[in-house]
Amino acid sequence: MLGAVSLAVFLKPKSANNQSQDDILLDQNNLAQNNSAEDDKEKEVAIVYFSATRTTEKVAEAIHDAVGGDLLQIIPATPYTAADLDYGSNCRATREQNDSSARPTIQDKIDLNSYDMIFLGYPIWWGDVPKIILTLLESENLEGKTIAPFATSHSSGLDSSVQTLKQHIDANIVEGRHFSATSSNTEIQEWAKQK
Ligand SMILES: Cc1cc2nc3c(=O)[nH]c(=O)nc-3n(C[C@H](O)[C@H](O)[C@H](O)COP(=O)(O)O)c2cc1C
Repeated sequence: MLGAVSLAVFLKPKSANNQSQDDILLDQNNLAQNNSAEDDKEKEVAIVYFSATRTTEKVAEAIHDAVGGDLLQIIPATPYTAADLDYGSNCRATREQNDSSARPTIQDKIDLNSYDMIFLGYPIWWGDVPKIILTLLESENLEGKTIAPFATSHSSGLDSSVQTLKQHIDANIVEGRHFSATSSNTEIQEWAKQK
């Protein structure tokens, strides 16, 4: 009997921390399974947007329909009236764009902490991001997150606005896209699904 016990001990050597070889193999398998579960984990997606007259909102909704995730609207504490947006005059929106320190207040706090992939949408205002976008970005730690910018405008592209984003965000900013009021949902959704 004593011989059989000795044999078993011999066949199942213990490691320094008292773990058998079988236990170690089991742990290694679990680790491999956990790693592949980590790889398979769905990325948490948010579509975050500001839209004063709903053009960008429609694009955001089309993206949301295509990729799912959470649709989060940046709502100004003081809404923009038509007069505020009359950019042929020295309106509120124009004054804000000309004021490097302007940071319009957001009505409800938006927390981007749990998202890995963020579609960020805005109208182009004087070739740039509306200042309320900076209000949001400066209140968040976006390190390690992927940001896909999208914008609407009458004619301007989004390149200079992306330069502004790069100055304000420590994140992986992937190639963005400009849409117009007449862009089709198919065009919008094909772009979003590639991200
Ligand atoms: C203050 C202000 C500045 C704008 N500047 C530009 C511009 O530089 N280039 C452009 O093509 N459109 C410009 N536009 C037009 C908007 O970008 C366009 O109407 C946009 O699609 C509106 O989006 P929204 O409906 O989501 O607010 C401007 C509009 C406003 C109110």
